[in-house]
Amino acid sequence: MYRRVSILLRKHFVSVLILCASIVIPFSSVKAADPAKGKALFQTNCASCHNVHKKLTGPALAGVEDRWPDKKLLHQWIHNSASVLASGDKYANELFNQYNKTAMTAFPSLSNEDIDDILAYVKNEEKNTPGGKTAVADPNANETADKGNDNSLLFGIITLILAVVALILMQINSNLNKLAGDKEGVPTADPVPFYKNKAYLALIILVLFMVGGYLTIQGAIGLGRQKDYMPEQPIFYSHKVHAGINQINCLYCHAGAEKSKHAMIPSENICMNCHKAIKEYSGPELTTAEGKKIDGTAEIAKLYDYVGWDPEAGKYTKPGRPIEWTKIHNLPDHVYFNHSQHVVAGQQQCQTCHGAITEMDEVHQFSDLSMGWCINCHRTTKVQFADNNYYSIFEKLHQDIKDKKIDSVTVEMVGGTECQKCHY
Ligand code: HEC
Ligand code: HEC
Ligand code: HEC
Ligand code: HEC
Ligand code: HEC
Ligand code: HEC
Repeated sequence: MYRRVSILLRKHFVSVLILCASIVIPFSSVKAADPAKGKALFQTNCASCHNVHKKLTGPALAGVEDRWPDKKLLHQWIHNSASVLASGDKYANELFNQYNKTAMTAFPSLSNEDIDDILAYVKNEEKNTPGGKTAVADPNANETADKGNDNSLLFGIITLILAVVALILMQINSNLNKLAGDKEGVPTADPVPFYKNKAYLALIILVLFMVGGYLTIQGAIGLGRQKDYMPEQPIFYSHKVHAGINQINCLYCHAGAEKSKHAMIPSENICMNCHKAIKEYSGPELTTAEGKKIDGTAEIAKLYDYVGWDPEAGKYTKPGRPIEWTKIHNLPDHVYFNHSQHVVAGQQQCQTCHGAITEMDEVHQFSDLSMGWCINCHRTTKVQFADNNYYSIFEKLHQDIKDKKIDSVTVEMVGGTECQKCHY
């Protein structure tokens, strides 16, 4: 059978080759727009004003290609909307007036391919129901952490069961000994029940002492640690709604994460960039962790109250006061942690340390922020070592790479586990 197939194939080798080529070539020669790339571009450049399904500062982009007479003009619009408006295009000018003459940002740096990628992404999203799907899937969602906990519980239970079984067996053993002794007429002492046996008692006290000591020390170290801490915030502000469903880039609000030590909480005027226009909430139903229903529109009204904005009049009518968000993450003062070093130089995703924020209505602390947590990651994570001036002083490591003694460099190897790097 195989032989026959292979003979057939050999005979028709050339025609098979041509057939394959004729299938593959048309696909490879035309570079298809890449919606995945488009999604990333959309999130960084457009999501602050546009949503595929909903009107934000700018129009909903679903079906946008059908609204424009040709793609060239659409490209020109996205590169520089002012130039299209200046050319007197009727549709563009009407749209501009409809949006209260809000100027769209110009994007001269986007290439035509970039824009096609974005449009391909928009087209892809059109098919999804509004709000039905959330954005970025988290690479390491809760699962891993939970698994760790479950395992230790499991081991604990197994140990306990084994200990009980051992006790019972020992008891049976001494009973049998006695029976055997009785049968042979050798007098043996009555077996001591285990709770009276001094050796057992000493053992149990020792174990209790060790467990107690361990728990006390753990408790003391963990003082001030607050994994899963999820305080109630003054406004029910949902990350799932903003960063998830509406795909607003984290850095739009937490710009500091890229530029400085602190990620920073956005000020109210950043909220008002959008909420001057977005007065109502019409997304999926919101509930607190306790299951209490939340009225999103009323929460937006709270924001207006804080900033002193009158949505009817469309202007600020009284002086604002700051929203007092409750801080969730808190490293002790003796620890130095820098966001930009991790996000920019270390290229770590927010989600690695903060969990699936885009799925959380209310943020909770995902990692325990313990020293072990920092160190473990520094031991296993590789740094971008080659062609990086920052690391040019590590001549020995560079030499080792050249000599193929090592193939990558971890944070630990450049000193990421030295006490003074993290401690003041
Ligand atoms: C600062 C806010 C802002 C940003 C950022 C922005 N836009 Fe816009 N966009 C608008 C506004 C407002 C309009 C409506 C027309 C106007 O007022 O200029 C608009 C209109 C459009 C239109 C025409 C929509 C229609 O219904 O015909 C397209 C297409 C568009 N934007 C694409 C994009 C893309 C792609 C990006 C990202 C690369 C982007 N926009 C970024 C504000 C923005
Ligand atoms: C539209 C603005 C906005 C966007 C976008 C946004 N956040 Fe936030 N973030 C906030 C506000 C406001 C708070 C404070 C209230 C709270 O804790 O929920 C906050 C709090 C946080 C906190 C807890 C801070 C603390 O108190 O310790 C983390 C962590 C966080 N954001 C991460 C992210 C990540 C990761 C993303 C992107 C996936 C993101 N945020 C996107 C506005 C935003
Ligand atoms: C880039 C635009 C944008 C920014 C910035 C923004 N929002 Fe929103 N906000 C939205 C959108 C979009 C919705 C969803 C509207 C809908 O689905 O009907 C929303 C919904 C809400 C809601 C109702 C749902 C919920 O999360 O409870 C509240 C409250 C809210 N925003 C508060 C805030 C606060 C506070 C800030 C500033 C820290 C802020 N928003 C910043 C776009 C924004
Ligand atoms: C390597 C782990 C790590 C990464 C990656 C990371 N964070 Fe953090 N983040 C932390 C730690 C640790 C704290 C607590 C800092 C403190 O208490 O001084 C924190 C605190 C915060 C806070 C509270 C305000 C502040 O600055 O202390 C916000 C908001 C936040 N992170 C947002 C983000 C965003 C957005 C990203 C992605 C752009 C991100 N983080 C990436 C570990 C990380
Ligand atoms: C998810 C992985 C991860 C976690 C968790 C993490 N780091 Fe890092 N850290 C990195 C990476 C990657 C770098 C290398 C950045 C670079 O190339 O400069 C780094 C670098 C550093 C540096 C600079 C080291 C040097 O040699 O210059 C300090 C300081 C630091 N981290 C502190 C902390 C502290 C404190 C914590 C815990 C609160 C922490 N990190 C948690 C990944 C992590
Ligand atoms: C990668 C960063 C990092 C490095 C390197 C590091 N630490 Fe820490 N250390 C931390 C963090 C984060 C905490 C806070 C833990 C907490 O709050 O539970 C901490 C806490 C401590 C504490 C207080 C007790 C405790 O566990 O909370 C001591 C003592 C300490 N470190 C000593 C050291 C010594 C000694 C070294 C060098 C061998 C060292 N650390 C290196 C991050 C680091």
